[in-house]
Amino acid sequence: MSDTKDLGTEEQLRRVLTVERYPRSSTYDQLWVVDNLMGPHPLWAAEALTQVMLLRPGMRVLDLGCGTALTSIFLAREYDVQVWAVDLWVEPTENWERIQQAGVAGRVHPVHADARTLPFADGFFDAIVSLDAYHYFGTDALYLPYCVEFLRPGGSLGIVAPGLRRDPGPDLPAYLAERWGPDMCTWLGPDWWRRHWERTGLVEVDVADMVPGGWEDWLRWLDACELVGRGHEPDARMLRADGGDLLGFTRVLAHRVR
Ligand SMILES: C[S@@+](CC[C@H](N)C(=O)[O-])C[C@H]1O[C@@H](n2cnc3c(N)ncnc32)[C@H](O)[C@@H]1O
Repeated sequence: MSDTKDLGTEEQLRRVLTVERYPRSSTYDQLWVVDNLMGPHPLWAAEALTQVMLLRPGMRVLDLGCGTALTSIFLAREYDVQVWAVDLWVEPTENWERIQQAGVAGRVHPVHADARTLPFADGFFDAIVSLDAYHYFGTDALYLPYCVEFLRPGGSLGIVAPGLRRDPGPDLPAYLAERWGPDMCTWLGPDWWRRHWERTGLVEVDVADMVPGGWEDWLRWLDACELVGRGHEPDARMLRADGGDLLGFTRVLAHRVR
């Protein structure tokens, strides 16, 4: 990033966060993304998901744990879907401001709710997405059966969340042990999520993988955030030491079979 140090912050962020893998995300104001961050680049996560998940215009989409609703805005703008932007920690009034400013007031509906007590009708949604959020509530074996009730039969559920490609076992590498905490117990891999969902008999899993280049994107994001004093050095150090061996983003897509 040394070649960007004399540029203004906005331009530096634009350069560092323009990534070929995510052409749609690259058209957004990256300072807007960083200013509203709650975790790794949310638009990249949404775009990584939509690279395997089909969204058609007019679909009803639940964005579960939408945070500051950037992904809801992105989905409405890019795929012309109707989005219910549900979050627990971020006030819907605050999200409504962002939604109106983004010009998608007719297509994004902010809702304050706990993912475990959703105020929707059974079968209402064509798709449910959850970006960097599902692991906060979805590891409960009873959660998927609850959640898919809100999907029409054949509707899809897609998530992207931090994950470890495989179970590191009891002897953690030093760089993981140094950062380890309860949050990381929910950083599960594609095989774990596939089994967790498929054993319910309620969905078929279409994709369960690690987002290609996910660890590099994560590190790039943290380095960019560092430019505005919002990096996270312990995570950056861990990602560098891992070099993509274990860490990255798990992506899982399934559809409701009954
Ligand atoms: C790391 S943030 C990610 C937010 C956003 N999806 C993004 O990518 O920027 C995790 C989000 O999950 C939401 N969350 C956690 N537990 C939740 C729950 N039980 N119900 C609804 N949302 C929840 C939080 O409110 C928070 O906004």
